[in-house]
Amino acid sequence: MKLLVKLGDSFGADRLIEICSAHTVLNFGLNIVNAAASILRDVANAGLKVKVKTTADPIIDFDQADKLTYLKGLYGLQDQLLNDLSRIGVRGFTCTPYFLDNRPNFGSHCAWSESSAVIYLNSALGARSNREGGVVDIASAILAKTPNYGLHVKENRKGQVLFKIPKKKWSMFDLTSIGLFMGETAGSRIPVIEGLKGITNDGIKNLGAASAATGAVALIHVIGATPEAKTKQEAFQNDVPEETIEIDTNSLDEVRNKYSATWKENPLSIAIGCPHLSKNEVIDVLNRLKGKKVLADRDLWICCCEEVRNSIIHSNLYQIVKESGAHLVSFCPLLTGLPRPFITNSGKTCFYSSATYAKLDECIKMATGEK
Ligand code: F3S
Repeated sequence: MKLLVKLGDSFGADRLIEICSAHTVLNFGLNIVNAAASILRDVANAGLKVKVKTTADPIIDFDQADKLTYLKGLYGLQDQLLNDLSRIGVRGFTCTPYFLDNRPNFGSHCAWSESSAVIYLNSALGARSNREGGVVDIASAILAKTPNYGLHVKENRKGQVLFKIPKKKWSMFDLTSIGLFMGETAGSRIPVIEGLKGITNDGIKNLGAASAATGAVALIHVIGATPEAKTKQEAFQNDVPEETIEIDTNSLDEVRNKYSATWKENPLSIAIGCPHLSKNEVIDVLNRLKGKKVLADRDLWICCCEEVRNSIIHSNLYQIVKESGAHLVSFCPLLTGLPRPFITNSGKTCFYSSATYAKLDECIKMATGEK
């Protein structure tokens, strides 16, 4: 309670408000998180339990330990952390908790960390959360409260910068690149984007994750898709933009080159699924992979939450996974430290690592050696 009150005081919150959901990033038992792990241990030993639905980011998959040999040494706190999370009632490990049963309704208040999930919650679901941090998220989950400031307050959700793009059919790769550009240009301001009519929630997921990596963005108003932005007027709460920025294909080419590392050697790892893929996205990947085989000297990792993974395993599509030699996993491809050279279609992973940024089809070609 003291932690939340101090946090609220420092941001000028007037009170604590009820939340209905939480999501924590206290999931990786890396040896360096010993301070947070020790707090979690104290919380669990005190018998405290979360009062609201609480999920956590993806965990390490030790079933793959033969390929990721150095993991065990780095993740010495994993068992302790998982045990303590379980004791306090945290269930479900993914950065897409909204594909599980942690999918808050429009207007509800939440305490989520994981920048890609927070931006989805605010922009696609119209629920409300600031970008929380590990420990604060757990404190909020235990109290079912958060300080009333930032994106919990309607006036603070007003759009600030208008991004305009030509009206055309943008591919998922384009949307991710638009997200990288918007994040670095908007910084901590709230972007409004015009020209993405018909964008899917998966599109918002990938665009948002990229923006939340290159900028401190936690909400994007996609006009026509974000529940609070049916019109431009609504997105700007009847005010005018502070700035208007045109995005053209040149800006996207620049951003793609900027966040893409170049490797001379063949890739050892190709990863798809940062943020974790939806079921539709996994099906799309598998349809593109059908009849092809991953080359013996590299690995193709397809990453999604456990529930999506299980539903694929129990469908005919799993045959494609087995025949192609790809791995369908529920870990985080960024923090698993996959062997380099590394290729991905994720803007977020490229921003944070030395991966090469490529379209989904190029990733599959690199994995299968197809010309
Ligand atoms: Fe998820 Fe890991 Fe990417 S937590 S958003 S897959 S960095």
